[in-house]
Amino acid sequence: MTCKTNSTLPVDVEAGVRYSWCSCGFSQTMPLCDHAHRQFSEKKSVKFIAENTETLHLCGCSETATPPYCDNHNQCKNA
Ligand code: FES
Repeated sequence: MTCKTNSTLPVDVEAGVRYSWCSCGFSQTMPLCDHAHRQFSEKKSVKFIAENTETLHLCGCSETATPPYCDNHNQCKNA
């Protein structure tokens, strides 16, 4: 069972820290990867380094073409 949602999800990030965005939808810590892809998917996480300390609203459907950010692919409620 996936944990995808058709909305963006807030994540507090720190400048200079590397994060892994979940591209498979099976993570229990959406929108960040918890390594569930190793068991359930061929997909891998998308790494990114936060430029600023802030709250980002990342894609929660895992279908975006602009990971980790929402591209309104699934008509996200918060896009
Ligand atoms: S758990 Fe989904 S990419 Fe890692």
